[in-house]
Amino acid sequence: MKLQITVLPGDGIGPEVTQQAVRILGTLAELSGYDFRFREKLIGGAAIRQCGSPLPLDTLDECLESDAVLLGAVGGPEFDSLPANARPEAGLLQLRQALGGYANLRPSLSYPSLADCSPLRREISSGADVLIVRELLGGLYFGSPRGIEDDSAFNTMRYSVSEVERVARIAFEEARRRRRKVTNVDKANVLETSQLWRKTVTQIAQEYPDVKLEHLYVDACAMLLISTPSNFDVLLTENLFGDILSDEAAVITGSLGMLPSASIGGQVNLYEPVHGSAPNIAGRGVANPLGAIGSAAMLLRYSAKLPGDADDVESAISSVIVSGHRTADIARQASDHILTTSEMGARVEQALAEILDRRHAYHAV
Ligand code: IPM
Ligand code: MN
Repeated sequence: MKLQITVLPGDGIGPEVTQQAVRILGTLAELSGYDFRFREKLIGGAAIRQCGSPLPLDTLDECLESDAVLLGAVGGPEFDSLPANARPEAGLLQLRQALGGYANLRPSLSYPSLADCSPLRREISSGADVLIVRELLGGLYFGSPRGIEDDSAFNTMRYSVSEVERVARIAFEEARRRRRKVTNVDKANVLETSQLWRKTVTQIAQEYPDVKLEHLYVDACAMLLISTPSNFDVLLTENLFGDILSDEAAVITGSLGMLPSASIGGQVNLYEPVHGSAPNIAGRGVANPLGAIGSAAMLLRYSAKLPGDADDVESAISSVIVSGHRTADIARQASDHILTTSEMGARVEQALAEILDRRHAYHAV
């Protein structure tokens, strides 16, 4: 198994958490005899500082030639005064568009031993396991025309049938591997784009008679996601609704630092934690690397096509959580010993080595 991975650490806590994700992939490769090669490139604010552009051509070329891209985070307060199209975030949006992954998968899982980190009561978060499938290349983020004119500004929400069809199919396929339910989320009582969206999703659902489809307006969904999260399986929605709802879904897990993501369906898949660059804690080695490591697990599943190894990395994450290891964002009791970012990475590494040891011993018998 050979894999060329472009690593884009980016800004803020991005480099710290990405380093741990690379460490886990490196350990897996070493212990399993895979040939994973990593090449690091600039993106976001770090790229603006060094090359004057948030997505240098050299970075884009490298990404397009690789088998997968692993990204940390972009953005920072020093760029707040730049126009939208020159900010670090613009580099990420251009990259997403160029790589072509239109389906952004954002799983959010409630770990029983993290229930105390969530403001939700244990009985509410208990058993919740939601996969948000966010359309990533359309809607208000990319629609034209857009701009600022004198004292008004405008953006355009536009979706074509084919854009909805392709992301809907991914949602139904994912649902087949899970609990066979898709909740479509839109604002069809107000928006034409949502009416087209809902009609198209309903049509695609006919190809998947074994998957249950329900529809919710986004405002009602925002409430139900937090009041009865365990009723959701796959949640399918457009770009901006998905951006907002996925931060909300982090409350189920207990910390935004836990959430991984994969953007699939395009030329090269992109893996990034859902959290941002968190400039307030950057450089202190206290960030939670589990969202980044979880993204590496998704890379193993969707790009390397190594589902067993992806499961092993996810099991390693849950075993360190179950044994009580905590970074600051998921620590709750005074007695919790708080780990640094790299200590947490080391714990996952050790747990993974033990899991692989057992697996290899089993196969040797
Ligand atoms: C996310 C982020 C990005 C988005 C920003 C950084 C452009 O919030 O991945 O959720 O809005 O998509
Ligand atoms: Mn977001």
